[in-house]
Amino acid sequence: MKLGVCYYPEQWPEAWWADDARQMVDVGIEYVRIAEFAWSRIEPNPGQFEWAWLDRAIDILHAAGLKVVMCTPTATPPKWLVDADPSMLAVDANGDTRGFGSRRHYCFSSKTYRAQSARITSEVGKRYGKHPGVVAWQTDNEYGCHLTVLSYSQAARAEFRVWLAKRYGIVAALNAAWGTVFWSQEYRSFDEVDAPVGTVTEANPAHRLDYRRFASDEVVAFNRIQTDLLRQHSPGRDVVHNYMGFFTEFDHHDVAQDLDVATWDSYPLGFTQDFFLTADEKRRYARTGHPDIPSFHHDLYRGMCQGANKGRWWVMEQQPGPVNWAQWNPAPLDGMVRLWTWQAFAHGAEVVSYFRWRQAPFAQEQMHAGLNRPDRSLDQGGMEAKQVFAEVQKLGLNSKPNLPLAPMESARAAIIFDYPSIWMAQIQPQGADFNAIEIAFRAYSAMRCLGLDVDIVSSKADVSAYQLVLLPAHMREDAVLAQRLQASGAQVVFGPRSGAKGQALAFPDTLPPGAFGTLAGVQVQRVASLPPGLTDAVQWADGGAFEVTRWREDLALTGATSVATFADGKPAVTRHGAVWYSAGWPNEGGWLQLLTQAAQAAGLAPQAVPADVRISRKGDLAFVQNFSSSTVNFSPSTHALCLLGARELAPQGLAIWKLTASK
Ligand code: GAL
Repeated sequence: MKLGVCYYPEQWPEAWWADDARQMVDVGIEYVRIAEFAWSRIEPNPGQFEWAWLDRAIDILHAAGLKVVMCTPTATPPKWLVDADPSMLAVDANGDTRGFGSRRHYCFSSKTYRAQSARITSEVGKRYGKHPGVVAWQTDNEYGCHLTVLSYSQAARAEFRVWLAKRYGIVAALNAAWGTVFWSQEYRSFDEVDAPVGTVTEANPAHRLDYRRFASDEVVAFNRIQTDLLRQHSPGRDVVHNYMGFFTEFDHHDVAQDLDVATWDSYPLGFTQDFFLTADEKRRYARTGHPDIPSFHHDLYRGMCQGANKGRWWVMEQQPGPVNWAQWNPAPLDGMVRLWTWQAFAHGAEVVSYFRWRQAPFAQEQMHAGLNRPDRSLDQGGMEAKQVFAEVQKLGLNSKPNLPLAPMESARAAIIFDYPSIWMAQIQPQGADFNAIEIAFRAYSAMRCLGLDVDIVSSKADVSAYQLVLLPAHMREDAVLAQRLQASGAQVVFGPRSGAKGQALAFPDTLPPGAFGTLAGVQVQRVASLPPGLTDAVQWADGGAFEVTRWREDLALTGATSVATFADGKPAVTRHGAVWYSAGWPNEGGWLQLLTQAAQAAGLAPQAVPADVRISRKGDLAFVQNFSSSTVNFSPSTHALCLLGARELAPQGLAIWKLTASK
């Protein structure tokens, strides 16, 4: 449970650096991430390196006892480099080049930019790889930020053809998979295939899906060049990347295979304003953020790294105050920076690092808060970080002799999150509000409202130890996964559209849910999207009701029984042994009812927590978090000792309990 901060020595007078480092230590900061945007200061002219200032900055931080997270500066190639090779720039779907003047102005497929990226990575790696103050490396910065994964440059189009040839071998296989007989789209060679943009109307969905897969693989390949070089030049250091919340343009699980630690950037208020929440939710959570947005990502990124690094994750950028980039940028309520920090620790974060040390009084992000104001005075976020540090110290959470802390225990419930399934739903939503990430989030949120801890894992993860596995948005049929789910013996809950498409975004031969059909004991015979305002009432067989919105399906029962029905008598929720299938998009009450039953059947103990209160367990500790605007009375168990806070929790309050008996 360590704190960190993002720091930009190049943006401040050198005379301030030592003082900044001292103050960081005073706040309780231990990790300092630097240099991810510093290329133009490191190499102001081609081949002319200016290391002296960065040497001094790192030495100052190290001398103050701080640990440096060094970055490769590849998210911001300097002007001279772009001018020398404009072909490195990405091109958008309209054919416009995405030029210099902000950041992330490169195309992942550019061979020349990959070479430049490898060159600068080697240079910084050689220079600082063995510095005793450098403990970790971050590759680039937020792959995909500003929608930069999909590029339609000449380089990308050429690489796409190579990728297709590798995937399909012969062009006849591509034609068959994509169904190019439709509208006379057949290709005679891979060289004839272009990017799926610029078409008169919708391009072939399988073509689009393969372009998404290709673009994702390009990010993986780009990242791997850097991780290989960093491991060579900086042995023994963690190599990390900072992912971005609610971002699905590339497969994060694939990139994580090359990382030691998955980190992500948590901006709860910005996400609350800019993502799919309702107008009411945006208002209600404007100054606290939706309680489940941070933890959804904490649990997702905890599931990224595998093997020796299983479960390792950090928050690399934590919102410290108002940001500048959302549609509206409210200020967090006092206490929220502390609560977010503890929430991350409760979900297993090794480090929570704030963005940024000091608000910059100039340039694009001048309206973005830091832990300090531009005049160097400590802002609210800085004071709360300091408070967390004092609390961690007092509880002895980082010093084993005082309070042994069990490692993050795996939850007994899991959600399977599958990036290709999300791409499929984005390409073919069929209803404008069929948002696959949202349905995954809503299912997750219901689990959290029921007081249950959840792991979010990939479709390749070992599910054998879980008692309850949810697939709220698994549109891609997967026979191997179906077998593993069956073998696990877990209760399994499928959301609507599960297994609705094969690998090339076509209907499965047996109709949806395809390879999940035998398991679920249903066949989907017709689907309908429901425009806003149109709902279908659902009645449980043993009492109770809810509504579906956005989506409903007509099912034939091929083994399952109906446990809830639509008003027209057709099955709305089915059960086949341990397997549940929802034939619609349940509203909040529907998810709670469905998951309560499935969790009970799984032998878990779902128990509704008070509104906007959340409980997270880590080892023998339970963290109770009050995101609501009222005081609540809550203890996680009758066998628990309160270590911090109290049973009565004020708004934005936190209590930490030590569980003394079974959960
Ligand atoms: C992140 C990014 C940072 C900074 C921050 C502002 O997406 O990684 O560099 O721009 O947002 O909130």
